[in-house]
Amino acid sequence: MSFFSGLFRTTYPINLTGFTDWHCHILPGVDDGVQNMTDSVAILKAYEDAGIAEVWLTPHIMEDIPNTPESLMKRFKELQECYRGSVKLNLAAENMIDSLFLERLEKNDLLPIGNDGKTLLVETSYFNAPMKFSETIEAIKSKGYFPLLAHPERYNYLDSLEDYRRLKAQGVLFQMNLMSLTGHYGPVVKKKAEELLSEGMYDRAGSDLHRKEHLDIIRRMKISSSQKNVFNRTFSITTE
Ligand SMILES: [Fe+2]
Repeated sequence: MSFFSGLFRTTYPINLTGFTDWHCHILPGVDDGVQNMTDSVAILKAYEDAGIAEVWLTPHIMEDIPNTPESLMKRFKELQECYRGSVKLNLAAENMIDSLFLERLEKNDLLPIGNDGKTLLVETSYFNAPMKFSETIEAIKSKGYFPLLAHPERYNYLDSLEDYRRLKAQGVLFQMNLMSLTGHYGPVVKKKAEELLSEGMYDRAGSDLHRKEHLDIIRRMKISSSQKNVFNRTFSITTE
């Protein structure tokens, strides 16, 4: 790229080489994500092509999709048998904050995310905050876990930066969906993601991939020059 073309360039393609995907629904046939082993293996091959190094498989656990850690581990072993490629596979869960979650938290029957086993990926309804949200965050922390909120930019009940700052002050980590920045979930979510990113509030990034097309969208995405640093520093994603 010449000096002058660089000066006038406003967006940059991202390079996923070495990236860790912290949120996806690739474990087959257990939730609303990928439905069969053949598709899961094909998607992991596409991850290899994109240079992605590691992935946390995060199937839903919620009252409507009552997966158990035990049943998910069994399915995970089956996937490990079928996929022998270079992407490092890890199993966790995306835990909906509902009464099933509170029961599992009480029994410590959970699938944490991250190598230290001390973080829990949690989600809530898109429309309403869970009852006693703040108390639930404290309960998670008192069990020795850090709560990592999946796609905070997608919740309608979180609106102002102040709402987000309150959660951060309570010790909640934020995981951004990469597709939020593309407008995939609409302009409001895109704007919130841009704001949270520019405020440096995200701790992790993930695809939240439910099907192969989502990876194609992410591979085509472009980011602004002001987003380059935070992508590199926080998510280990470089630009080409
Ligand atoms: Fe998800």
